[in-house]
Amino acid sequence: MLPNKDDILRELNQELASVSSLQDLEKLKARYLGKTGIVKELSKAIKDIPPEERKSYGSLVNEIKDAVEEIFKEKFSYFKSLEESKKLSKDFIDPTLPITSQLGSLHPISLTLERILSILKSMGFLEQEGPELEKEEYNFDMLNIPKYHPARDMQDTFYVNKEGYVLRTHTSPIQIRTMLSNKPPIYITAPGKVYRKDDDPTHSPMFFQVEGLAVDKHISLRHLKYVLDTFLNIFFGKSLKTRYRSSYFPFTEPSFEVDIECVMCGGAGCRVCKQSGWLEVMGCGMVHPNVLKNCDIDPSLYTGFAFGMGVERLAMLYYGISNIKLFYENDIRFLAQFEE
Ligand code: PHE
Repeated sequence: MLPNKDDILRELNQELASVSSLQDLEKLKARYLGKTGIVKELSKAIKDIPPEERKSYGSLVNEIKDAVEEIFKEKFSYFKSLEESKKLSKDFIDPTLPITSQLGSLHPISLTLERILSILKSMGFLEQEGPELEKEEYNFDMLNIPKYHPARDMQDTFYVNKEGYVLRTHTSPIQIRTMLSNKPPIYITAPGKVYRKDDDPTHSPMFFQVEGLAVDKHISLRHLKYVLDTFLNIFFGKSLKTRYRSSYFPFTEPSFEVDIECVMCGGAGCRVCKQSGWLEVMGCGMVHPNVLKNCDIDPSLYTGFAFGMGVERLAMLYYGISNIKLFYENDIRFLAQFEE
């Protein structure tokens, strides 16, 4: 009796429908095409077929074998591509996606410091540095602040257990260092960290200052006012009214506090300027003759001016920040707002 090709293929297709893995497919293939598989058994059975039917039986078995092989070949390639696409979707990289990692940006204090220095540099003031652990002598004595002088209380000092040294309370000792090692003309800026026992929403125990010093022949108050007015106008990007209020620093005479019209309210009066319309932005004055003498510079030949400003203070006014602590908390959401 001849095998029924259609029945065999239908049964195979039914069985294939429930195959879900490559492994099961291998097993099924063995059952059909293996050494003792269904197709092999059909071939072996040829010996029981009467000789006159063998030819047609043989060619039918071959047809069945070819058809079964074809079906398996298709199913195998289907499983392979399925597996490949599974792997691909797992390792999928979309090269068109934007980069997700956040790029860093400069700290607002660094940006402000850089801007201050570059404006002053354009006016001929070159940068000098000094140590944060400073000789008491340079931080006070040579700046005309003798021991036991009440002026030492103006800036509450961090003393350290190294005799004769303090954490500098201002950048003014860099004036002394510069005048001791250079003769006039001197035009410098001196940026750096300074330390004071001071801590509230607008004061921090560590903050940044920029000092300025000019010593030359015929330096007068008019030069000081021109340099600072010009600096403030460039820094705030607008023409601002300024006011030089008489003040006191032991190392300058006369001394002034510089006020600008309030950048928040334009001088009308607001919370930031405490309704006064003015904002204090720095201290300045003509270098005291004693300070020049202390550095072996003849005050009858040379005069000079000096100024000192707080970088945080200027940054807070420029960016409209009300609490100084924001600069030191390193909250990325705050810091990322100041990209240039
Ligand atoms: N050193 C002063 C301060 O820290 C600022 C200042 C510098 C004033 C130079 C006058 C001249 O307050």
